[in-house]
Amino acid sequence: MASLRIAASRFAAPRAGPSMFRRAMATATELPNPLPQPNRSIVPEGKTSTVKEPAADKEAKIKTFHIYRWNPDEPSAKPRMQSYTLDLNKTGPMMLDALIRIKNETDPTLTFRRSCREGICGSCAMNIDGVNTLACLCRIPTDTAKETRIYPLPHTYVVKDLVPDMTHFYKQYKSIKPYLQRDTPSPDGREYRQSKADRRKLDGLYECILCACCSTSCPSYWWNSEEYLGPAVLLQSYRWINDSRDEQTAARKEALNNSMSVYRCHTILNCSRTCPKGLNPALAIAEIKKALAFT
Ligand code: SF4
Ligand code: SF4
Ligand code: FES
Repeated sequence: MASLRIAASRFAAPRAGPSMFRRAMATATELPNPLPQPNRSIVPEGKTSTVKEPAADKEAKIKTFHIYRWNPDEPSAKPRMQSYTLDLNKTGPMMLDALIRIKNETDPTLTFRRSCREGICGSCAMNIDGVNTLACLCRIPTDTAKETRIYPLPHTYVVKDLVPDMTHFYKQYKSIKPYLQRDTPSPDGREYRQSKADRRKLDGLYECILCACCSTSCPSYWWNSEEYLGPAVLLQSYRWINDSRDEQTAARKEALNNSMSVYRCHTILNCSRTCPKGLNPALAIAEIKKALAFT
């Protein structure tokens, strides 16, 4: 699993609008960045309830998890925190194991996304103890005195509980044409090949799983997400600019060469700090800026 998390290259390292959902805005109280955030105190104090695991034994290691809850079927109800206790001796080591146990054994109404449970699909991205990360790659701290808080990805609209609405994020991803664009056929009619050196230029880029942990940790993206593409989509954009087989490099750069798409990045570096795959989107953005400057 460790090899999945570490990329071996230098890259390792409130919007409004209609929706099919009635949505709440995800907020987190313990983000790594100290900038002010809108609507951070929407969870009313004292509106929590605790669901306890039944009959704990003497050796039990009981830990408390506070989890953001919001149900679109009760649109007038404010989001709230719900507390659950689990015996860590009966729970797998990762945060996703805890969430699955709560859902399977305590509260089937708790809603979250997950699929691969090994850091590949990107669907379990959420904010855990103030850090955007993948629940399946995040170990549960064994210190039972420390309580854990889990929120949806910050500054996203919420579909339900820990499920963020990714519609806008995917729309932006689509806008960069994330596929090979090429008219010239390969000389031998087989696949488009590239040198080992050219292939290595994609290391640290192709590993991105589009979990959006980076984009939703970026203050510039919080404030400008309608126009600024954000670190995840820009890293993907650079992946195609950097691909020796692609024949639309100039058009790709031209599409980014405006005041908003790239230049809202102010090198704050939250993105690279939070990426659960160990990638460095800030460096990819710096490379795009360099490429645009020398166009
Ligand atoms: S670069 Fe961003 S979207 Fe890609 S894996 Fe890292 S945090 Fe997730
Ligand atoms: S480096 Fe750029 S993209 Fe990354 S968090 Fe900072 S402003 Fe956002
Ligand atoms: S469940 Fe796929 S990345 Fe966590």
